[in-house]
Amino acid sequence: MKNNDYIIRRETEKDYREVENIAREAFWNLNKPGCHEHYFIHIMRQHEDFIPELDYVIEVGGRMVGCVMYCKAKLRDENGSEKQIVTMGPICVLPEYQRKGYGKALLKHTFGIAADMGYDTVINFGNPDNYVARGYKSCRKYNVCFEGDFFPAALLVKVLKDGALDGRKWFYCPSDVEELCNDEEAVGDFDALFPPKVKGWQPSQEEFYIHSHSVINRE
Ligand SMILES: CC(C)(COP(=O)(O)OP(=O)(O)OC[C@H]1O[C@@H](n2cnc3c(N)ncnc32)[C@H](O)[C@@H]1OP(=O)(O)O)[C@@H](O)C(=O)NCCC(=O)NCCS
Repeated sequence: MKNNDYIIRRETEKDYREVENIAREAFWNLNKPGCHEHYFIHIMRQHEDFIPELDYVIEVGGRMVGCVMYCKAKLRDENGSEKQIVTMGPICVLPEYQRKGYGKALLKHTFGIAADMGYDTVINFGNPDNYVARGYKSCRKYNVCFEGDFFPAALLVKVLKDGALDGRKWFYCPSDVEELCNDEEAVGDFDALFPPKVKGWQPSQEEFYIHSHSVINRE
């Protein structure tokens, strides 16, 4: 997709390291000192749940400045019926290009492709500020939760087709790909391949703590 300002195109193997660096720059010290998202991208591309058809980058003035990726996931109802959905993320834009509409363009483009592929529901964890204007709603509004009726405030749901979720309770079953990021040693070894960067604290880490530990208890 091309407009006067940017080009959105599929990621190629040649882009891999640069895309990982974009993620590292965008997430560095955002949610914790340092970050793991560049490693996450590195391993998720090899994972069976990764969806290459939804792996996109955005270029501005010939420079790659952002990317978005998706993985397969499932919703399971109380009778054990399953529904295939997608988890969006990571999505990131280089800090100096943020808040100019590029993240929005990446989501709009890939939502259209996901819908064409037959997916009707997108889920991700995140800061609601980034997503509510894209039509995401709280998981509670769609009765989507984790086992134990646990409705995290940061669990956000976007339906790509009216009526995709019919009000019955769904349990969200994400891919296990993210668990691989808990290997701090592997993350550190991978990070050492990039230029040195200083780990530190910034207020967004507290914001992340609040969002990621909050639960919506009532409608
Ligand atoms: C989150 C991120 C991908 C968004 O991309 P972006 O190009 O900066 O965002 P956009 O300019 O497209 O704006 C998207 C939405 O963010 C919100 N937004 C924009 N500016 C904002 C601001 N100053 N404060 C709060 N929200 C803002 C709006 O909802 C906006 O949509 P709208 O213009 O329709 O109202 C990007 O900022 C980023 O990489 N951040 C760091 C990594 C990250 O947090 N990734 C997401 C993990 S949950």
